Amino acid sequence: MINRHTRPAIVTMTLLAASGCGDNQHPEAAIALYEQIQQEDYQSFARAPGYETRKPSDAPHSDHVDIFINSVVAEALAADETLTIWPEGSLIVKDGYTDGGELELVAVMDKRSDGWFYAEYFDGDAKFSGKPDVCTDCHASGADFVLAFGFP
Ligand code: HEC
Repeated sequence: MINRHTRPAIVTMTLLAASGCGDNQHPEAAIALYEQIQQEDYQSFARAPGYETRKPSDAPHSDHVDIFINSVVAEALAADETLTIWPEGSLIVKDGYTDGGELELVAVMDKRSDGWFYAEYFDGDAKFSGKPDVCTDCHASGADFVLAFGFP
């Protein structure tokens, strides 16, 4: 029976099935990025606009999410001028929790010179990194778009 408790597991399985065993295109860069966000203590970052507290999510990123933005994103959001692109160095981290409040995954977007680097970790291990189709199918809309809070 599919109910709200089994759904996250099924979605995770679907994501994995869609790309074989995940799609970890840049394992070393993924490890480095994970170490970086731990060192920077990302959970102490500002929260994304509209995500002042943990929120239920309909996205395939667990049932509840916390979304954190680094100072580059926070300053871009606070700037008076309208940006057309998120600056390099923008970093967004999303923690996905189960209904039971257990941390299930950590999803990261890091803006680099060649665009967003995507990574998703389960128990600290990257299953996806680089520009996996499974991420860009939803996230790359042609414009420089952040799903949780929109354009620059
Ligand atoms: C089926 C569509 C879908 C797929 C596939 C998807 N995402 Fe998301 N993602 C979303 C939505 C919708 C949000 C907005 C926040 C929410 O509702 O959880 C989001 C939010 C995020 C955020 C917070 C910043 C933002 O854009 O809002 C990160 C980081 C993120 N996703 C990373 C990833 C990574 C990494 C992958 C690939 C492993 C991925 N996502 C795959 C739909 C998707």
